[in-house]
Amino acid sequence: MDRIAINDLTKDYGQGRGIFGVSFSVHKGECFGFLGPNGAGKSTTIRHLMGFSTPDKGYAAIDGVVTVKDRSKALENVGYLPGEISLPGALTGREFIKEQSELKGLSDYAFADWLTALFQLDTSLRCKDMSMGMKRKLTIVVAFMSDPDILVMDEPSSGLDPKMQEVFIELVKAEKKRGKTILMSSHIFSEIDSCCDRIAVIKDGKIVSIIDSDVIKHNEKKNYRLRFKNRKDYDAFANSQEGKSKAVDRDEKDLAMIVNVEDEDINTFLMSLKGLAIDDLSEIKLTLEDYFMSFYKEDRTFGGL
Ligand SMILES: Nc1ncnc2c1ncn2[C@@H]1O[C@H](COP(=O)(O)OP(=O)(O)OP(=O)(O)O)[C@@H](O)[C@H]1O
Ligand SMILES: [Mg+2]
Repeated sequence: MDRIAINDLTKDYGQGRGIFGVSFSVHKGECFGFLGPNGAGKSTTIRHLMGFSTPDKGYAAIDGVVTVKDRSKALENVGYLPGEISLPGALTGREFIKEQSELKGLSDYAFADWLTALFQLDTSLRCKDMSMGMKRKLTIVVAFMSDPDILVMDEPSSGLDPKMQEVFIELVKAEKKRGKTILMSSHIFSEIDSCCDRIAVIKDGKIVSIIDSDVIKHNEKKNYRLRFKNRKDYDAFANSQEGKSKAVDRDEKDLAMIVNVEDEDINTFLMSLKGLAIDDLSEIKLTLEDYFMSFYKEDRTFGGL
């Protein structure tokens, strides 16, 4: 079941800026990672999902409720961690937690206290006197403290030191185990790698790939890069794929694809190439970083892998 649905979401800020036809969904209990360089459109997508901006086209919905139409209903069960932190400077951390708890109708502070201790956050400081990392910790506490079913987080761990990033990763994993649905953007490969079930890559406002993180993690599967000499054979192979070998990425322009094959199916895979005109066949080792970087080469050849 999809808890988050983003469909053809478009916001054109002019001069090629914005997001264009962004579509993906996040299933119940899934952790979905959103990767992209600065200015790619992560925050714009997330802000639209939260109903803060009206799209030119398409929609974003949570549990079937279009956020921009009925924000309070759509966000009833959502914890949100914004990319840009803006806190009321005069309030102490504790006062801010209290204010946000009241807004969420929360009267039990046990989880907030536990999170505060977990992140070793001094909530007696006023927000304006907090360091960047402290402010980030405070927004993490506020996003998680009401124990929401769905967490939407824009670069949640940026500004945290490596030890606290680890603490954050463990928290996300534990929450996922408890059945939470999580969408988070990040620049940190290790974070996305260790938490996320699926990963979308956004570039210049468009989703260029959505991949299962298993494909990257599992060594018992091999990835082959295949390039065909002609479209007829490219299409013939693409259409013949069934069973356990699976095209995980395609580059139609280059007539190339990456095929993910179980060890035991390698022979079948090689047999399926018989009679097809192949320009290049090579095994590739994928790390998330390789995979991500492959979208940022001028001449896209899966990172030259
Ligand atoms: N309100 C706005 N008005 C005009 N342009 C905007 C606005 N918001 C975002 N943009 C542009 O849209 C593009 C996507 O910006 P966005 O903030 O979504 O990127 P991002 O992927 O979150 O980047 P970062 O990693 O730096 O946070 C950028 O080119 C940005 O300049
Ligand atoms: Mg951003």
